[in-house]
Amino acid sequence: MWRNLKSIGMMIPTDSFYNKFSCFYPLVDVFLKPQKQVLFNEVNTLPAGNLLEIGVGNGAHLPLYKKHYITGIDTSSEMLKIAGKQNHKHVRLLQMDGEALQFQDGQFDYVVLSHVIAVVDNPERLFEQVYRVLKPTGRVFILNHFTPNNWLKHLDRAFGLFSKIVHFKSVFYIHDIATIRSFELLKEVHFGPAAYFKLLIYQKQ
Ligand SMILES: C[S@@+](CC[C@H](N)C(=O)[O-])C[C@H]1O[C@@H](n2cnc3c(N)ncnc32)[C@H](O)[C@@H]1O
Repeated sequence: MWRNLKSIGMMIPTDSFYNKFSCFYPLVDVFLKPQKQVLFNEVNTLPAGNLLEIGVGNGAHLPLYKKHYITGIDTSSEMLKIAGKQNHKHVRLLQMDGEALQFQDGQFDYVVLSHVIAVVDNPERLFEQVYRVLKPTGRVFILNHFTPNNWLKHLDRAFGLFSKIVHFKSVFYIHDIATIRSFELLKEVHFGPAAYFKLLIYQKQ
């Protein structure tokens, strides 16, 4: 089922950006593939459950889910159109805003946020929603860049203005999100020598 919730309001700039960018996204994905493999190894070791992926994009990693019932949401209709060309059992795709989830409380066992938390307008609101829709002791998997406390922080700051144009926040700290304190950190995996990218696994408490 496809629901065009945004069509009743105005198209936000991030939607337009990803609608235009959708055909080029596979180029970015090549670079992100090794980290995603680690993410999916973690996700696939867990017992089968209801999994929500927010910002599912072009669905490039839908085939990497080996179990679970997958709900993939995104605000970009073009990204979803590409994702929808794949035919997977146990996958439903919906056009929906991660900051205003149209799901009941406590519906999901797992939430995956792969390179989306620094893209959404309001990460705090996103995490409030994630907390709400997760079952008690549900888990959230976050794959993203995080501004480190090393030389890379200067690059992040220098890149700040340009990053707004391409719709993400280059300077990004997980501790700026107050709702994250309602979760317990279970695991942290670093990628690359400067640990710029991380996989963080949290459990709702
Ligand atoms: C950088 S891409 C990441 C795509 C995919 N998760 C991946 O790891 O390759 C970010 C995606 O998040 C979507 N997005 C941005 N804001 C969103 C929001 N508020 N709710 C849901 N999806 C959103 C964009 O349309 C885009 O498809």
